[in-house]
Amino acid sequence: MIGTKRSSLGVWVLATSLVAGQGLAAQADTTRHAQVLVRAGRLVATRTGTVLANQAILIEGVRIKEVGPADAVAGHASRDVRVIDLKNATVLPGLIDCHTHITADPGDYYRQLFRLSPIDEAVRAHIYAKRTLDAGFTTVRNVGAGEFIDVALRNAINDGAVPGPRMLVSTMPLSATGGHGDVNGMSPYLHFEGFSGIANGVDQIREKIRFEVKYGADLIKVLASAGVLSEEESVGAPQYSQEELNAIVEEAAMWGRKVAAHAHGAEAIKRAVRAGVASIEHGSLIDDEGIRLMKERGTYLVADIYNDDYILAEYTRLGYPQKIIDKERLVGRQQRENFKKAVQAGVKIAYGTDAGVYPHGWNAKQFAHMVRWGTTPMHAIQAATVNAADLLGWADRVGALEPGKYADVVAVQGDPLQDVTLLEHVAFVMKGGEVVKDSLTGGAKAAR
Ligand code: ARG
Repeated sequence: MIGTKRSSLGVWVLATSLVAGQGLAAQADTTRHAQVLVRAGRLVATRTGTVLANQAILIEGVRIKEVGPADAVAGHASRDVRVIDLKNATVLPGLIDCHTHITADPGDYYRQLFRLSPIDEAVRAHIYAKRTLDAGFTTVRNVGAGEFIDVALRNAINDGAVPGPRMLVSTMPLSATGGHGDVNGMSPYLHFEGFSGIANGVDQIREKIRFEVKYGADLIKVLASAGVLSEEESVGAPQYSQEELNAIVEEAAMWGRKVAAHAHGAEAIKRAVRAGVASIEHGSLIDDEGIRLMKERGTYLVADIYNDDYILAEYTRLGYPQKIIDKERLVGRQQRENFKKAVQAGVKIAYGTDAGVYPHGWNAKQFAHMVRWGTTPMHAIQAATVNAADLLGWADRVGALEPGKYADVVAVQGDPLQDVTLLEHVAFVMKGGEVVKDSLTGGAKAAR
């Protein structure tokens, strides 16, 4: 799941789809009004954790101009404003998933390892981007892809050539030789060609980070511990030393990049937190000291607590080796219990799902699990909006419906604060002022 298959031809494929997609963006633009007014029956104010009735959002271009009581805001709109009536819905900021692998989908283990190439991945990635966007996730932090497919996808989306969420990308996760990002359990004579995130020792690590930043990484992902969906024996053993992790955070910071650390095991978590990473991914076997350290340092926990359901239901059928299934059995329940502990201790939580391990577009399924394991519905929504935006370093542009932010807006029928699973059925999605999905209003009206 972390893009270990490589080739250098991926770039050509996305360049072609970029040209083909240009007509699409041009068509969408012709329907643009100077201003859009979204009338919201209920609006989730994510920063304050409150729900406000009868609100309106005035949008100009790609950004929000004003938010407030419906009549007051409508009074400030231009005469030809386009009105979108969501009076019977609950309106929220576009959702954010801080842990995706948007270029890959679950599939047969050996087919993915040996029969598919990065070119297959590059050709399909845009499909997953669209599914993610349609599910109401208007921003993602992608934490691992083969080659530079994530960079190419991000750029194509930014150019308007391909529909998809806003993306921050890590490119290839840094991994020790034999670590979670290496291909393990095979013959030593088997080699994959192409770029890789494998780096050992401080010097190699620094060089690898410079290389990834040079070709488009927005953040650095490091595999601080062993993992589940790889063939190492352990699920949580540390795979980088304290010295190496310190160097990773320091080098990344020099280039203005944050670090996301994959860490299941207690020791690896603590090393990564001490090194100063921005977030711990998975966090499955965290201990009390780790929880205390994360609180102290303000480190975010991004725990993919839906994942276990899908892996245990599907991955045997997909041909995954028994030892991987066994590792999942070991870690799944404990991860959820430890997530609850961390929530109760007041560790900062950001929403991240590992989508790609399970199908894209299902990103919202984790909300219900978070509520079952310790958060309130509002806290879970905040994890996927304001908190996520803060973790991404994008608090000035996404995560809340406020003036100056991107007009990324989603809506659901009913009250997600009562039933958080409603977020699995987002009926309206707007990204940057453009409606990308609407099964609620039956089309917008041109007048107030
Ligand atoms: N990418 C992760 C890994 O291979 C997935 C872990 C899934 N399991 C879980 N309980 N969250 O380590």
